[in-house]
Amino acid sequence: MGLAMGGDGINAFVWAFCGTVVAGLLLLAYMRFESAWFRLAYASLPPTGGLSASAMEGERIPGVRGAPDAIRLRVGGARTPKGRKAGHIRVLHISDVHVGQLGVGMGRINGAIRRADPDMIAFTGDYIEKAEECGRFIRFMGMVGFGGPIFLCMGNHDHKAFHGQARRRRSASAASAASAASAAPARPGAPAIPAGLGAILDGACEAACGDGGCEGMRGFAEGIARAKPNAAVLTNGTETLHYDVRSGGWAEGPGEGVCAVSVTGFDDLRAGKMDAAKGLASRDMGADVRLAMAHNPDAVLGLPEKAFDYILSGHFHAGQIWTPFHLEYRMLRRERLSKMNVRKGLFGFPAGLLYISAGIGCVKVPLRFLARPEISVLDVPLPEADPARLNLRP
Ligand SMILES: [Fe+2]
Repeated sequence: MGLAMGGDGINAFVWAFCGTVVAGLLLLAYMRFESAWFRLAYASLPPTGGLSASAMEGERIPGVRGAPDAIRLRVGGARTPKGRKAGHIRVLHISDVHVGQLGVGMGRINGAIRRADPDMIAFTGDYIEKAEECGRFIRFMGMVGFGGPIFLCMGNHDHKAFHGQARRRRSASAASAASAASAAPARPGAPAIPAGLGAILDGACEAACGDGGCEGMRGFAEGIARAKPNAAVLTNGTETLHYDVRSGGWAEGPGEGVCAVSVTGFDDLRAGKMDAAKGLASRDMGADVRLAMAHNPDAVLGLPEKAFDYILSGHFHAGQIWTPFHLEYRMLRRERLSKMNVRKGLFGFPAGLLYISAGIGCVKVPLRFLARPEISVLDVPLPEADPARLNLRP
């Protein structure tokens, strides 16, 4: 039995090894590149007035385990049209920023905002992964080049960040207490580790983190509002704005030719913070257009029929790193909609039309593969120019 490899065998092995390394490096470079190469996804949403999801045309997707069927709807062209559509408000939808692993620069984000020229911006959760990143996200918000209304709802990673911090502080306190008990006698004047309280790092976000992480979350929301006074974090609550159809801009209040647009933000479902009853009770039933924001798309399954006209969400990252047979969803996602192949784009549900963004940032690893980051431009139709409904003079 010969152990020595022939010259040809060694050459083949070296070539195969080098080829594999080069292919791996190219793949990694492409994945890194794709994290930064975001697309401006444009969707002209269909009107919902008088339409039930079952009456909409599109590819029907059967539900799973009690979930209602969904209808996959085709939306407008991939490019944002140059002009603005009359009788529509334009919503810029940004989801899953994950500021610690965001490959897209602020200049490109602000460039997209300038090009899209929206009426409002909706951020649908997952801004940070660690409490220490909250100052960074607050600075990010301060740099967002938009003076109109901005609404935010929280995602599972935002909650996890503060819960994680509370846990770390508790274990640090326990370790401190244990070591203090074993060290006899205790050194007088030794610094004590604060139990469950402390300033969140990074200077910009000073918040106390209580047992459930709620105090830290509240401080985070207040920090965002301080950095961006035109931004509001909605926690199972609603705000109503008024839009002047004729001038094509926000109005101070109701009046002739003015549409009421309500925005309801639900807290995160997976973190156990979504209070559907509270959010639904806060709705402005007199609004001409009712928008909702919920980080986790599964939130739509807990809402009653025709609860909202449009529901914006994210969470799935379009898989982030594509794998064959959708393994990234099968292995990493527990959501019912992901099992129904309802993962990105526009879908009709009994509760309303659901738009799922591919998100802009990355979770766990700063890479995307065949899942380009996306900033979505959604043209939302206002009620048809019904003079009586809009109180317009003929
Ligand atoms: Fe996310």
